[in-house]
Amino acid sequence: MTDQLERLNRLPLRTNLRGLRPYGAPQLDVPILLNVNENTHGVPADVRAAIAEAVTEAAAGLNRYPDREFTELRGALAEYLGHGLDAMNIWAANGSNEVLQQILQAFGGPGRNALGFPPTYSMYPLLAAGTDTGYVAGVRGEGYSLTAESAARQVRELQPNIVFLCSPNNPTGTGLGLDVVEAVYEAGEASQAIIIVDEAYHEFAHEGTPSALTLLPGRERLIVSRTMSKAFALAGARIGYMAAAPEVTDALRLVRLPYHLSAITQATALAALRHREALMADVEDIKRQRDRIVTELTRMGLTPASSDSNYVFFGGLTDPHRVWQELLDAGVLVRDVGIPGHLRVTAGTEAETTAFLEALERILTAHRG
Ligand SMILES: Cc1ncc(COP(=O)(O)O)c(C=O)c1O
Repeated sequence: MTDQLERLNRLPLRTNLRGLRPYGAPQLDVPILLNVNENTHGVPADVRAAIAEAVTEAAAGLNRYPDREFTELRGALAEYLGHGLDAMNIWAANGSNEVLQQILQAFGGPGRNALGFPPTYSMYPLLAAGTDTGYVAGVRGEGYSLTAESAARQVRELQPNIVFLCSPNNPTGTGLGLDVVEAVYEAGEASQAIIIVDEAYHEFAHEGTPSALTLLPGRERLIVSRTMSKAFALAGARIGYMAAAPEVTDALRLVRLPYHLSAITQATALAALRHREALMADVEDIKRQRDRIVTELTRMGLTPASSDSNYVFFGGLTDPHRVWQELLDAGVLVRDVGIPGHLRVTAGTEAETTAFLEALERILTAHRG
Protein backbone atom coordinates (compact mmCIF):
# COMPACT_ATOMS: atom_id res chain seq x y z
CA MET A 1 0.00 0.00 0.00
CA THR A 2 1.31 3.48 -0.81
CA ASP A 3 2.03 6.02 1.96
CA GLN A 4 -0.83 8.13 0.67
CA LEU A 5 -3.33 5.25 0.91
CA GLU A 6 -2.06 4.36 4.38
CA ARG A 7 -2.49 7.94 5.59
CA LEU A 8 -5.96 8.07 4.04
CA ASN A 9 -6.98 4.83 5.72
CA ARG A 10 -6.02 6.22 9.14
CA LEU A 11 -8.84 8.77 8.71
CA PRO A 12 -12.40 7.82 9.73
CA LEU A 13 -13.26 7.45 6.04
CA ARG A 14 -16.57 5.78 5.09
CA THR A 15 -15.95 2.05 4.70
CA ASN A 16 -17.00 1.94 1.05
CA LEU A 17 -14.46 4.65 0.13
CA ARG A 18 -11.51 2.79 1.63
CA GLY A 19 -8.95 1.67 -0.95
CA LEU A 20 -10.59 3.62 -3.79
CA ARG A 21 -8.56 5.80 -6.12
CA PRO A 22 -9.89 9.15 -7.40
CA TYR A 23 -10.63 9.66 -11.11
CA GLY A 24 -7.24 10.43 -12.53
CA ALA A 25 -6.70 10.67 -16.28
CA PRO A 26 -3.18 12.15 -16.52
CA GLN A 27 -3.08 15.95 -17.06
CA LEU A 28 0.33 16.33 -18.71
CA ASP A 29 1.94 19.25 -20.50
CA VAL A 30 2.12 17.74 -23.99
CA PRO A 31 1.69 19.47 -27.39
CA ILE A 32 -1.06 17.13 -28.66
CA LEU A 33 -3.72 16.14 -26.10
CA LEU A 34 -5.92 13.31 -27.37
CA ASN A 35 -6.63 11.49 -24.11
CA VAL A 36 -9.88 12.71 -22.51
CA ASN A 37 -12.20 13.11 -25.50
CA GLU A 38 -12.27 16.88 -25.34
CA ASN A 39 -13.32 18.91 -28.36
CA THR A 40 -9.92 19.51 -29.96
CA HIS A 41 -11.17 22.31 -32.21
CA GLY A 42 -11.37 24.98 -29.51
CA VAL A 43 -14.12 27.55 -29.01
CA PRO A 44 -14.87 29.38 -32.31
CA ALA A 45 -14.14 33.15 -32.29
CA ASP A 46 -17.81 34.24 -32.54
CA VAL A 47 -18.81 31.92 -29.68
CA ARG A 48 -15.92 33.23 -27.57
CA ALA A 49 -16.99 36.83 -28.20
CA ALA A 50 -20.65 36.05 -27.38
CA ILE A 51 -19.62 34.30 -24.14
CA ALA A 52 -17.37 37.20 -23.11
CA GLU A 53 -20.20 39.68 -23.69
CA ALA A 54 -22.77 37.54 -21.83
CA VAL A 55 -20.40 36.97 -18.91
CA THR A 56 -19.63 40.71 -18.63
CA GLU A 57 -23.36 41.37 -18.44
CA ALA A 58 -23.83 38.63 -15.83
CA ALA A 59 -20.92 40.02 -13.78
CA ALA A 60 -22.92 43.18 -13.09
CA GLY A 61 -25.44 41.07 -11.15
CA LEU A 62 -23.03 38.80 -9.27
CA ASN A 63 -23.98 40.38 -5.92
CA ARG A 64 -27.26 38.43 -6.26
CA TYR A 65 -27.74 34.66 -6.25
CA PRO A 66 -28.43 33.25 -9.73
CA ASP A 67 -31.83 32.06 -10.98
CA ARG A 68 -32.09 28.86 -8.92
CA GLU A 69 -34.35 27.27 -11.53
CA PHE A 70 -32.23 28.45 -14.51
CA THR A 71 -35.49 28.58 -16.46
CA GLU A 72 -34.14 30.42 -19.49
CA LEU A 73 -31.31 27.92 -19.90
CA ARG A 74 -33.67 24.95 -19.47
CA GLY A 75 -35.88 26.42 -22.20
CA ALA A 76 -32.90 26.93 -24.53
CA LEU A 77 -31.65 23.37 -23.94
CA ALA A 78 -35.16 22.00 -24.62
CA GLU A 79 -35.30 23.98 -27.87
CA TYR A 80 -31.87 22.61 -28.86
CA LEU A 81 -32.92 19.00 -28.16
CA GLY A 82 -36.31 19.26 -29.90
CA HIS A 83 -38.48 16.10 -29.67
CA GLY A 84 -41.33 18.17 -28.20
CA LEU A 85 -39.44 18.74 -24.94
CA ASP A 86 -39.87 21.89 -22.86
CA ALA A 87 -38.14 23.48 -19.86
CA MET A 88 -40.05 21.20 -17.44
CA ASN A 89 -38.30 18.16 -18.94
CA ILE A 90 -34.79 19.56 -18.57
CA TRP A 91 -32.33 19.70 -15.70
CA ALA A 92 -28.70 20.86 -15.73
CA ALA A 93 -25.69 20.89 -13.43
CA ASN A 94 -21.93 21.47 -13.40
CA GLY A 95 -21.08 18.83 -15.97
CA SER A 96 -23.07 15.68 -16.68
CA ASN A 97 -20.99 14.07 -13.93
CA GLU A 98 -22.89 16.25 -11.46
CA VAL A 99 -26.22 15.42 -13.11
CA LEU A 100 -25.38 11.70 -12.74
CA GLN A 101 -24.36 12.27 -9.12
CA GLN A 102 -27.68 13.99 -8.39
CA ILE A 103 -29.56 11.08 -10.01
CA LEU A 104 -27.70 8.66 -7.72
CA GLN A 105 -28.36 10.90 -4.70
CA ALA A 106 -32.08 10.90 -5.47
CA PHE A 107 -32.60 7.32 -6.65
CA GLY A 108 -29.60 5.38 -5.25
CA GLY A 109 -28.05 5.43 -1.79
CA PRO A 110 -27.51 2.86 0.97
CA GLY A 111 -29.14 -0.50 0.28
CA ARG A 112 -29.65 0.31 -3.41
CA ASN A 113 -27.69 -0.84 -6.47
CA ALA A 114 -26.67 0.57 -9.83
CA LEU A 115 -25.84 -1.68 -12.77
CA GLY A 116 -23.30 -0.76 -15.46
CA PHE A 117 -21.79 -2.77 -18.32
CA PRO A 118 -17.98 -2.51 -18.32
CA PRO A 119 -15.91 -1.58 -20.11
CA THR A 120 -17.83 1.67 -19.77
CA TYR A 121 -17.40 5.17 -18.38
CA SER A 122 -15.07 4.86 -15.39
CA MET A 123 -16.95 7.43 -13.29
CA TYR A 124 -20.08 5.25 -12.84
CA PRO A 125 -18.61 3.10 -10.03
CA LEU A 126 -16.97 6.16 -8.43
CA LEU A 127 -20.23 8.11 -8.44
CA ALA A 128 -21.95 5.06 -6.96
CA ALA A 129 -19.34 4.81 -4.19
CA GLY A 130 -19.60 8.53 -3.45
CA THR A 131 -23.35 8.22 -2.90
CA ASP A 132 -23.11 4.90 -1.01
CA THR A 133 -24.88 3.10 -3.84
CA GLY A 134 -23.79 -0.45 -4.63
CA TYR A 135 -22.31 -0.96 -8.11
CA VAL A 136 -22.85 -4.19 -10.01
CA ALA A 137 -20.81 -4.93 -13.13
CA GLY A 138 -22.90 -6.55 -15.85
CA VAL A 139 -21.35 -8.53 -18.69
CA ARG A 140 -21.00 -7.82 -22.39
CA GLY A 141 -20.67 -10.29 -25.25
CA GLU A 142 -18.10 -10.79 -27.98
CA GLY A 143 -16.31 -7.55 -29.01
CA TYR A 144 -17.87 -5.73 -26.02
CA SER A 145 -21.32 -5.88 -27.63
CA LEU A 146 -24.52 -5.67 -25.61
CA THR A 147 -27.70 -7.17 -27.02
CA ALA A 148 -31.24 -6.33 -25.92
CA GLU A 149 -31.79 -9.90 -24.83
CA SER A 150 -28.64 -10.15 -22.70
CA ALA A 151 -29.02 -6.70 -21.10
CA ALA A 152 -32.70 -7.32 -20.26
CA ARG A 153 -31.93 -10.75 -18.78
CA GLN A 154 -29.25 -9.24 -16.52
CA VAL A 155 -31.65 -6.51 -15.37
CA ARG A 156 -34.34 -9.11 -14.60
CA GLU A 157 -31.84 -11.22 -12.63
CA LEU A 158 -30.09 -8.43 -10.73
CA GLN A 159 -33.12 -6.17 -10.07
CA PRO A 160 -31.04 -2.97 -9.93
CA ASN A 161 -32.45 0.41 -8.84
CA ILE A 162 -30.47 2.26 -11.51
CA VAL A 163 -29.05 1.13 -14.87
CA PHE A 164 -26.32 2.99 -16.77
CA LEU A 165 -26.45 2.56 -20.54
CA CYS A 166 -23.69 4.57 -22.24
CA SER A 167 -24.37 5.27 -25.92
CA PRO A 168 -22.02 5.77 -27.68
CA ASN A 169 -20.12 3.84 -25.06
CA ASN A 170 -16.91 5.16 -23.55
CA PRO A 171 -14.27 3.75 -24.15
CA THR A 172 -15.44 1.61 -27.08
CA GLY A 173 -17.15 4.42 -29.05
CA THR A 174 -19.98 2.19 -30.27
CA GLY A 175 -23.65 3.13 -29.99
CA LEU A 176 -26.43 0.97 -28.56
CA GLY A 177 -29.56 0.16 -30.54
CA LEU A 178 -32.76 1.66 -29.13
CA ASP A 179 -34.04 -1.92 -28.86
CA VAL A 180 -31.56 -2.37 -25.97
CA VAL A 181 -32.91 0.71 -24.17
CA GLU A 182 -36.53 -0.42 -24.70
CA ALA A 183 -35.81 -3.95 -23.48
CA VAL A 184 -33.88 -2.73 -20.42
CA TYR A 185 -36.66 -0.27 -19.57
CA GLU A 186 -39.26 -3.04 -19.69
CA ALA A 187 -37.06 -5.45 -17.73
CA GLY A 188 -36.56 -2.73 -15.08
CA GLU A 189 -40.31 -2.55 -14.42
CA ALA A 190 -40.13 -5.14 -11.63
CA SER A 191 -37.50 -3.22 -9.62
CA GLN A 192 -38.82 0.17 -10.79
CA ALA A 193 -35.31 0.87 -12.10
CA ILE A 194 -34.27 4.31 -13.29
CA ILE A 195 -32.67 3.83 -16.71
CA ILE A 196 -29.99 6.39 -17.61
CA VAL A 197 -28.89 6.61 -21.23
CA ASP A 198 -25.65 8.60 -21.20
CA GLU A 199 -25.51 10.30 -24.61
CA ALA A 200 -22.52 12.55 -23.84
CA TYR A 201 -21.22 12.03 -27.41
CA HIS A 202 -24.49 11.82 -29.34
CA GLU A 203 -23.75 14.77 -31.65
CA PHE A 204 -20.83 12.83 -33.13
CA ALA A 205 -22.98 9.83 -34.14
CA HIS A 206 -23.31 8.97 -37.83
CA GLU A 207 -26.14 10.71 -39.68
CA GLY A 208 -29.53 9.19 -38.88
CA THR A 209 -28.56 7.55 -35.57
CA PRO A 210 -31.67 7.87 -33.37
CA SER A 211 -31.42 9.24 -29.84
CA ALA A 212 -33.06 7.70 -26.78
CA LEU A 213 -34.88 11.05 -26.52
CA THR A 214 -37.38 9.53 -28.96
CA LEU A 215 -38.28 6.95 -26.28
CA LEU A 216 -39.07 9.45 -23.50
CA PRO A 217 -42.85 9.83 -24.01
CA GLY A 218 -44.65 7.50 -21.60
CA ARG A 219 -41.44 6.31 -19.91
CA GLU A 220 -41.15 8.21 -16.62
CA ARG A 221 -38.19 6.10 -15.37
CA LEU A 222 -36.03 6.94 -18.42
CA ILE A 223 -33.38 9.69 -18.29
CA VAL A 224 -31.25 10.84 -21.23
CA SER A 225 -28.08 12.57 -20.13
CA ARG A 226 -26.12 15.00 -22.36
CA THR A 227 -23.26 17.47 -21.96
CA MET A 228 -21.90 20.71 -23.42
CA SER A 229 -18.35 19.45 -22.73
CA LYS A 230 -17.95 17.66 -26.06
CA ALA A 231 -19.84 18.94 -29.13
CA PHE A 232 -20.11 22.45 -27.62
CA ALA A 233 -16.37 22.55 -26.76
CA LEU A 234 -17.14 23.73 -23.22
CA ALA A 235 -15.46 21.10 -21.02
CA GLY A 236 -13.90 23.92 -19.01
CA ALA A 237 -17.24 25.60 -18.34
CA ARG A 238 -18.81 22.50 -16.70
CA ILE A 239 -22.34 22.26 -18.09
CA GLY A 240 -24.18 18.95 -18.35
CA TYR A 241 -27.90 18.34 -18.60
CA MET A 242 -30.57 15.70 -18.90
CA ALA A 243 -34.06 15.24 -20.34
CA ALA A 244 -36.74 13.22 -18.57
CA ALA A 245 -40.29 13.37 -17.27
CA PRO A 246 -40.97 16.55 -15.22
CA GLU A 247 -41.26 14.49 -12.01
CA VAL A 248 -37.62 13.41 -12.42
CA THR A 249 -36.49 17.05 -12.44
CA ASP A 250 -38.62 17.55 -9.31
CA ALA A 251 -36.74 14.67 -7.66
CA LEU A 252 -33.35 16.18 -8.53
CA ARG A 253 -34.44 19.50 -7.00
CA LEU A 254 -34.54 17.65 -3.65
CA VAL A 255 -30.81 16.90 -3.72
CA ARG A 256 -29.23 19.80 -5.65
CA LEU A 257 -27.41 22.46 -3.68
CA PRO A 258 -29.23 25.78 -3.75
CA TYR A 259 -28.06 27.96 -6.67
CA HIS A 260 -25.76 25.17 -7.90
CA LEU A 261 -25.55 26.61 -11.42
CA SER A 262 -23.72 29.95 -11.26
CA ALA A 263 -24.88 33.02 -13.20
CA ILE A 264 -21.58 32.83 -15.14
CA THR A 265 -22.27 29.22 -16.10
CA GLN A 266 -25.84 29.99 -17.17
CA ALA A 267 -24.74 32.98 -19.25
CA THR A 268 -21.96 30.93 -20.90
CA ALA A 269 -24.29 28.07 -21.82
CA LEU A 270 -26.95 30.40 -23.22
CA ALA A 271 -24.42 32.29 -25.36
CA ALA A 272 -23.00 29.04 -26.79
CA LEU A 273 -26.49 27.71 -27.56
CA ARG A 274 -27.36 30.93 -29.40
CA HIS A 275 -24.18 30.74 -31.51
CA ARG A 276 -23.97 27.04 -32.20
CA GLU A 277 -23.54 27.12 -36.00
CA ALA A 278 -19.72 27.26 -35.98
CA LEU A 279 -19.60 24.66 -33.19
CA MET A 280 -21.69 22.22 -35.22
CA ALA A 281 -19.42 22.79 -38.26
CA ASP A 282 -16.46 21.75 -36.07
CA VAL A 283 -18.38 18.62 -35.02
CA GLU A 284 -18.59 17.67 -38.71
CA ASP A 285 -14.81 18.11 -39.09
CA ILE A 286 -14.18 16.03 -35.96
CA LYS A 287 -16.36 13.25 -37.42
CA ARG A 288 -14.23 13.34 -40.60
CA GLN A 289 -11.03 13.02 -38.54
CA ARG A 290 -12.59 10.19 -36.51
CA ASP A 291 -13.50 8.27 -39.69
CA ARG A 292 -10.02 8.97 -41.07
CA ILE A 293 -8.47 7.43 -37.92
CA VAL A 294 -10.62 4.29 -38.32
CA THR A 295 -9.61 3.93 -42.00
CA GLU A 296 -5.91 4.56 -41.37
CA LEU A 297 -5.63 2.28 -38.34
CA THR A 298 -7.28 -0.51 -40.36
CA ARG A 299 -4.72 0.06 -43.11
CA MET A 300 -1.95 -0.26 -40.47
CA GLY A 301 -3.30 -3.72 -39.56
CA LEU A 302 -4.92 -2.64 -36.28
CA THR A 303 -8.54 -3.30 -35.28
CA PRO A 304 -10.42 -0.06 -34.54
CA ALA A 305 -13.98 -0.38 -33.24
CA SER A 306 -16.66 1.37 -35.27
CA SER A 307 -17.18 4.75 -33.62
CA ASP A 308 -20.16 7.08 -33.23
CA SER A 309 -18.18 9.36 -30.93
CA ASN A 310 -15.21 11.74 -31.13
CA TYR A 311 -12.69 9.03 -30.27
CA VAL A 312 -11.55 5.65 -31.53
CA PHE A 313 -10.89 2.54 -29.47
CA PHE A 314 -8.43 0.27 -31.21
CA GLY A 315 -6.91 -3.15 -30.65
CA GLY A 316 -4.23 -5.27 -32.27
CA LEU A 317 -1.35 -3.93 -30.14
CA THR A 318 1.06 -6.37 -28.52
CA ASP A 319 2.26 -3.91 -25.90
CA PRO A 320 -0.19 -0.99 -25.64
CA HIS A 321 1.57 0.61 -22.71
CA ARG A 322 4.84 0.79 -24.63
CA VAL A 323 3.03 2.30 -27.64
CA TRP A 324 1.32 4.80 -25.28
CA GLN A 325 4.73 5.80 -23.86
CA GLU A 326 6.35 6.12 -27.28
CA LEU A 327 3.46 8.26 -28.53
CA LEU A 328 3.92 10.43 -25.43
CA ASP A 329 7.65 10.71 -26.18
CA ALA A 330 6.59 11.93 -29.65
CA GLY A 331 4.39 14.59 -28.03
CA VAL A 332 1.01 12.84 -28.43
CA LEU A 333 -0.99 11.89 -25.33
CA VAL A 334 -3.61 9.17 -25.88
CA ARG A 335 -5.46 7.05 -23.30
CA ASP A 336 -4.40 3.67 -21.98
CA VAL A 337 -7.76 2.44 -20.69
CA GLY A 338 -6.18 -0.68 -19.17
CA ILE A 339 -7.76 -3.09 -21.66
CA PRO A 340 -5.25 -5.66 -22.98
CA GLY A 341 -4.08 -4.95 -26.54
CA HIS A 342 -6.01 -1.66 -26.79
CA LEU A 343 -5.66 2.13 -26.64
CA ARG A 344 -8.14 4.97 -27.16
CA VAL A 345 -7.47 8.17 -29.09
CA THR A 346 -9.56 11.33 -29.39
CA ALA A 347 -10.05 12.73 -32.90
CA GLY A 348 -7.92 15.86 -33.18
CA THR A 349 -7.76 18.70 -35.65
CA GLU A 350 -6.56 17.60 -39.08
CA ALA A 351 -2.95 18.49 -38.13
CA GLU A 352 -3.13 16.75 -34.74
CA THR A 353 -4.68 13.66 -36.29
CA THR A 354 -1.94 13.57 -38.94
CA ALA A 355 0.74 13.88 -36.22
CA PHE A 356 -0.85 11.02 -34.26
CA LEU A 357 -1.18 8.74 -37.30
CA GLU A 358 2.38 9.42 -38.48
CA ALA A 359 3.86 8.87 -35.01
CA LEU A 360 1.90 5.64 -34.55
CA GLU A 361 2.94 4.29 -37.95
CA ARG A 362 6.60 5.06 -37.16
CA ILE A 363 6.31 3.26 -33.81
CA LEU A 364 4.56 0.21 -35.28
CA THR A 365 7.11 -0.05 -38.11
CA ALA A 366 10.00 0.14 -35.62
CA HIS A 367 8.43 -2.58 -33.45
CA ARG A 368 7.82 -4.86 -36.42
CA GLY A 369 11.26 -4.19 -37.93
C1 LIG B 1 -19.65 8.83 -21.24
C2 LIG B 1 -19.40 10.08 -20.49
N1 LIG B 1 -20.37 10.58 -19.73
C3 LIG B 1 -20.19 11.71 -19.02
C4 LIG B 1 -19.00 12.38 -19.06
C5 LIG B 1 -18.84 13.60 -18.18
O1 LIG B 1 -18.76 14.75 -18.87
P1 LIG B 1 -18.99 16.16 -18.19
O2 LIG B 1 -19.06 15.99 -16.69
O3 LIG B 1 -17.83 16.98 -18.62
O4 LIG B 1 -20.30 16.64 -18.74
C6 LIG B 1 -17.95 11.91 -19.85
C7 LIG B 1 -16.66 12.62 -19.90
O5 LIG B 1 -15.70 12.26 -20.51
C8 LIG B 1 -18.15 10.71 -20.58
O6 LIG B 1 -17.18 10.18 -21.32
